[in-house]
Amino acid sequence: MAKDAVTEHTGPGHVAIIMDGNGRWAQQRGRPRLFGHHAGAKRVREIVNACPDLGVSHLTIFAFSTENWKRTQSEVAGLMRLFRRYIEREARDLLKEGVRVRFIGDRMKLDDKLVSLMDNLEMLTSHNDRVHLTIALNYGGRDEVTRAAKKMAFEIEQGRLTHKDVDAETLGRFLDTQFLPDPDLVIRTSGEARISNFLLWQSAYAEYEFIDTLWPDFTAEEFGQVLGNYGNRERRFGAVLA
Ligand code: FPP
Repeated sequence: MAKDAVTEHTGPGHVAIIMDGNGRWAQQRGRPRLFGHHAGAKRVREIVNACPDLGVSHLTIFAFSTENWKRTQSEVAGLMRLFRRYIEREARDLLKEGVRVRFIGDRMKLDDKLVSLMDNLEMLTSHNDRVHLTIALNYGGRDEVTRAAKKMAFEIEQGRLTHKDVDAETLGRFLDTQFLPDPDLVIRTSGEARISNFLLWQSAYAEYEFIDTLWPDFTAEEFGQVLGNYGNRERRFGAVLA
């Protein structure tokens, strides 16, 4: 790899965020967890709107994991309602702001109404390209790789691929993220230093930032500061610098 490519200090084009801490934020205020999720949804708008000025062309956010079904039924139902309302209320502004929205994750387990709102929003914003917002909904990295392997096995069974075609590039084409570049930077809020099954394959060479701030308190200003830290890092992608 050319030295310039690994030492240039530019901002991250693709930022992925694990939006953690909504529950604790609500608890600190003596309010139900869903209150925190609603406050978290408001931050999503602020962070998306900040992207163009910060040089972020792709933003991927973790909204609901394949493990989140283990939460209480009322929290899960409240989150699903919130996602429906978010799409209904934000669609027009997202379109106007030039945001292209796409979803990753397994849609099979999501209710029909939500899936049709997701499909419509993807279609409605498909000509935008100012910011590429990807929302991970019922998403898990292992689940995604497993589904990709299954689809690839099916193609082999049908004779459209052979085992010799199986390499990282081919597998990548079966992932939900086939339309996305790999993330440059993964941010997790709320002080937890885990990746929790988020973009496991895609983050192989990503930088990580673990921030103490709870997601509902994470402002566009702090987002800008975190991106500034990234600018001072040197990415080597496994190479040794001369
Ligand atoms: C993690 O905080 C957050 C979630 C599981 C949900 C993320 C959802 C939002 C930010 C709401 C809106 C999103 C969209 C796209 C409209 P947590 O509940 O695990 O917090 P805790 O660790 O403090 O309990």
